[in-house]
Amino acid sequence: MESPVLRVENFSAHFGDTPVLKDINLSVQHNKVTALMGPSGCGKTTLIRCINRMHELITDAGVAGCIYLHDEDLYKMNPILVRKKIGMVFQRPNPFPTMSIYENVIAGYSLNGIKIKRDEKDRIVEESLRKAALWEEVRDRLHRKGSFLSGGQQQRLCIARALAMNPDILLMDEPTSALDPKATAYIEQLICELKNNVTILLVTHNIAQAARVSDFTAFLYLGDLVEFGTTEKLFTVPDDKRTEEYLSGKFG
Ligand SMILES: Nc1ncnc2c1ncn2[C@@H]1O[C@H](COP(=O)(O)OP(=O)(O)OP(=O)(O)O)[C@@H](O)[C@H]1O
Ligand SMILES: [Mg+2]
Repeated sequence: MESPVLRVENFSAHFGDTPVLKDINLSVQHNKVTALMGPSGCGKTTLIRCINRMHELITDAGVAGCIYLHDEDLYKMNPILVRKKIGMVFQRPNPFPTMSIYENVIAGYSLNGIKIKRDEKDRIVEESLRKAALWEEVRDRLHRKGSFLSGGQQQRLCIARALAMNPDILLMDEPTSALDPKATAYIEQLICELKNNVTILLVTHNIAQAARVSDFTAFLYLGDLVEFGTTEKLFTVPDDKRTEEYLSGKFG
């Protein structure tokens, strides 16, 4: 197997005196979907905010241990560079409301002052929208505001915006929790297609979603990584009693 894109080693995080992640070890494999699953408050969002160096921006928040991106220590890299290499899609679709669809897709370049030629921009916009399965729906109105789109389309626009930067890994924090079942199914199918091109770490508290789309699953509970392995193994013969109870709906 190829070496992992991301490795989290003996990693802990806290808010003030409160530990929220305790000695986490996991790795994210190239062009696979890894699900981070667990009940509300277990630390899923905190972990992905540590991965893109957002956690440390909170007063009194801190971390210990290491995270490696392709063998490079993330915490020794420039955080701006980290956020360019690591794409992020949030729970609520958040296209820039004053920007057109086109400008939204290319925003990672324009906001970072990266200059590219017009035909190169056109190419990136089309390619990213195609990858996000949105091109056919918006190709005739690229210069209208992104906020006119439906919730599911807006979320795909946010996915296109992240993909436009050609990230090493795409972090998705419950990307379907604000969407209806139809838009959710569409995004789940998209995630399954995207992994041919990009490595995905998907946060979800939806057990069925983890089972449907992921290759590997990590189960977090109260800041502990209880179990991590292939989705098939974790869902059929979990090692830990807490995993078994969570999967059978006993808590969370
Ligand atoms: N800014 C903050 N200051 C202090 N504590 C925080 C802060 N943000 C989160 N926490 C706490 O850290 C713990 C982990 O929160 P986190 O948001 O990572 O959970 P989560 O697994 O993403 O939950 P959910 O499924 O509800 O999104 C929780 O106990 C939460 O209350
Ligand atoms: Mg969360």
